[in-house]
Amino acid sequence: MMSSNPYLPRLAEVLEVKEESPEVKTLKLKLKEGRMKFKAGQFLELTVFGVGEAPFTFSSSPFNLESFEVSIAKVGSVTGAAHRLKRGELVGVRGPFGNGFPLEEYKGRDLLIVGGGIGIAPLRSLLYALVAERSEYGELKLLYGARSPSLIIYKDEWEKFMEKDVEVYLTVDVGDETWRCGPYGPCGYTHVGVVTTLFDLVKLNPEKCVAFVCGPPIMIKFTVQRLLQLGFPASRIYLSLERMMKCGLGKCGHCNIEGYYVCKDGPVFPFEMLKDIPHPF
Ligand SMILES: Cc1cc2nc3c(=O)[nH]c(=O)nc-3n(C[C@H](O)[C@H](O)[C@H](O)COP(=O)(O)OP(=O)(O)OC[C@H]3O[C@@H](n4cnc5c(N)ncnc54)[C@H](O)[C@@H]3O)c2cc1C
Ligand code: FES
Repeated sequence: MMSSNPYLPRLAEVLEVKEESPEVKTLKLKLKEGRMKFKAGQFLELTVFGVGEAPFTFSSSPFNLESFEVSIAKVGSVTGAAHRLKRGELVGVRGPFGNGFPLEEYKGRDLLIVGGGIGIAPLRSLLYALVAERSEYGELKLLYGARSPSLIIYKDEWEKFMEKDVEVYLTVDVGDETWRCGPYGPCGYTHVGVVTTLFDLVKLNPEKCVAFVCGPPIMIKFTVQRLLQLGFPASRIYLSLERMMKCGLGKCGHCNIEGYYVCKDGPVFPFEMLKDIPHPF
């Protein structure tokens, strides 16, 4: 439940800080009062007191009502301050905001999840939601890429998703001596090349499959091109987008793209809605 004043942050305690990579930390948070009920794909506004507020998608399972997680890449002032937070400290949270992934519509379908960089954060939440009801869906495939092996995050979780019948394909732009290519455990199929090169390794049935994509704009652009070439209809390609935000509520206009507010109408959009917009990503 949101606070009655959506501009007023609620207090949350940092329960745990996990270093996922040299660039990303995951904060486990718990509201001081009440519970955070959210859908995979929704986001919150996080305040680091004395520094500022920034939007982050939930990266944890929406079925865990006791605590919730955000995974934060350090890029500037708020994210830098979030990386310095310690267990027991308090932050402010507003939300949940946005629409989330439309999972109910796609029960029985095959699902393809494609993530790049920190874009894997909302997709991790999506994966947890899907494996909690694994028998409701068909084939589940994940394609995830990072720039280098040290930047692959959630390393200890991929094997657990594979045990839940998720096909996991990981790739890095540049490998190193720790990165062995091929169908080797424990992390699924590992590869070197940009995310779209993984499409050569997977078998997909575009008539039955729905794609969910999140990552840097250039990755989204080439992934969408590839999905369309494969025969995915624009209505079954979902993109989770980022824009500069302030209110998170569809009021201030900061996140406007051609009449849509990313914070309110998104951040998850079917490509069908965006395909006639000149630079949607
Ligand atoms: C809906 C939504 C969900 C997001 N989810 C996550 C998430 O799960 N994990 C995560 O690490 N990040 C996420 N982001 C991006 C995150 O909000 C920005 O990285 C953050 O606002 C930067 O704040 P800062 O004060 O550290 O950076 P600043 O000091 O303000 O800026 C540092 C640099 O980051 C750029 N920047 C700032 N905000 C954004 C933005 N919204 N998009 C792209 N570039 C930006 C600035 O242009 C500048 O180059 C999300 C953004 C949105 C809109
Ligand atoms: S952030 Fe204010 S309208 Fe979207």
